[in-house]
Order: sequence, then structure tokens, then C-alpha cells
Amino acid sequence: MSQYWSGRFAREGMIWGKEPSPSAEWARGIFEDAGLNSVLVPGAGYGRNTKVFSGAFTTYGIELSTEALELAAEWDPATVFIAGSALERQLDVLVDAVYCYDVLHLFLEEERKKLIAASLAQLRTGGLLYFTSFSDEDCNNGCGRRLEPGTYEYKSGKYAHFFSEADLRSHFSGAEIIQTGSFPERLQSEQGGIHEYILRYIVARKVK
Ligand SMILES: C[S@@+](CC[C@H](N)C(=O)[O-])C[C@H]1O[C@@H](n2cnc3c(N)ncnc32)[C@H](O)[C@@H]1O
Repeated sequence: MSQYWSGRFAREGMIWGKEPSPSAEWARGIFEDAGLNSVLVPGAGYGRNTKVFSGAFTTYGIELSTEALELAAEWDPATVFIAGSALERQLDVLVDAVYCYDVLHLFLEEERKKLIAASLAQLRTGGLLYFTSFSDEDCNNGCGRRLEPGTYEYKSGKYAHFFSEADLRSHFSGAEIIQTGSFPERLQSEQGGIHEYILRYIVARKVK
């Protein structure tokens, strides 16, 4: 996994351009309305979305790829980036919120559970989670070899889990679910290419 991403960041740089996902703006609004002060972004990439938070909150990003971290340090110097795996606890402080964009679907079931458990372990009780991931409504769902229920090798050497609403809710059943939904995401690469896909999101609160 880390080789795949490092290779892409080394070749393509800011793969998804400089504009953040609209979901990062929506999450920031929710976190601001709740009066929160700190945000953790697991799998932060080169900081495309951390920058939305770092102007308003103390922001931490966890990222495995050294190439992404080099880009992130330049693009978003206000965020504290930590080199390491988001599947394990990396912070020794608790944050008020976790925003995690399109990382959960990259893993098989056991690792998805680890990502959520590590995120909850770094979140204070009462804090908020905002996660996005591929939707089962996306056209790639069901394409290619099936590795696990809902998980497909939809491109050669690349797999993802495609979430139904019930599946996403069951992943977060240990938290209080506040809201779920889906939206079309439109990405423009630095080279001008456009890629569209359908994402689900979930907003939840840590209750214990
Ligand atoms: C689809 S990209 C999303 C990047 C970022 N969330 C964004 O919004 O631009 C997935 C990211 O997760 C990172 N990643 C993959 N596995 C990871 C892990 N175990 N721990 C931390 N980061 C990881 C990759 O290096 C890559 O930057």
C-alpha cells in the first residue's frame, strides 16, 4: 500500500489538485458549530484537506508516505504532520474531532476496524468523527475480483471497499451516529483530467 501511494505522489505530485473536498468544508462547519478546537486527519496525503482545518483549529495529520509528507510540509505548514500508520495510535493528546477522507475504503475488514479503533482512541469522549469513503452506488462497485464482501480489485493491483449505508453504520456502531449521506465528488488533477465518483459520509460522536 505505502509503495503504491509513494510512487504516485513521487510521479504525480499533488494528485488531486489544490482544491479541498467540499466535505472538508462541511465538516469544518459542523466542528465550528460544536465549538471544537482540535482536529486529527488520518491518511492526510499532501494536506489538500488539512488546510481547510488548520486555519481554524489545532490540526494534526497522520501519513505513511514520505513523498506526501514532503509536499504537505510546504502546502500546509500550519498542520503538525506525523509520519506513521493511521492504523495505530500516534498522538499522545486527545483531539476534539477526526476528519478522514477516502482512507477507510482502502483496507480489508480487519484493518478498517483498526483505523476506526485508532481514530476513536485519539478522540476525547463527546468528540466528533467525520469519515468519507466509496459508496456502493459508485459505478466501480462490483467490478473485478471480489476479495471480501463489498471489496473488489476494481483496477489491476488496486482494491477498495464499497459501502452501503447499513455497512457504514455498522462500522461505526460503537459511536453515536448523527448523520449519514452520499454525494458526487468531482476531482480535477493538476494535469486537467476530471474524475467523478460517489462517496458516502458519516458524522458520529464518541460516547464512551
Ligand atoms: C486516497 S488518499 C487520500 C488522501 C487525503 N485523505 C486527501 O484527502 O487528499 C489515501 C491516503 O492515505 C495514505 N495511507 C494509506 N495507508 C495509510 C496508513 N496505514 N496510515 C497513514 N496513511 C495511509 C496514503 O499514503 C494516501 O495519502
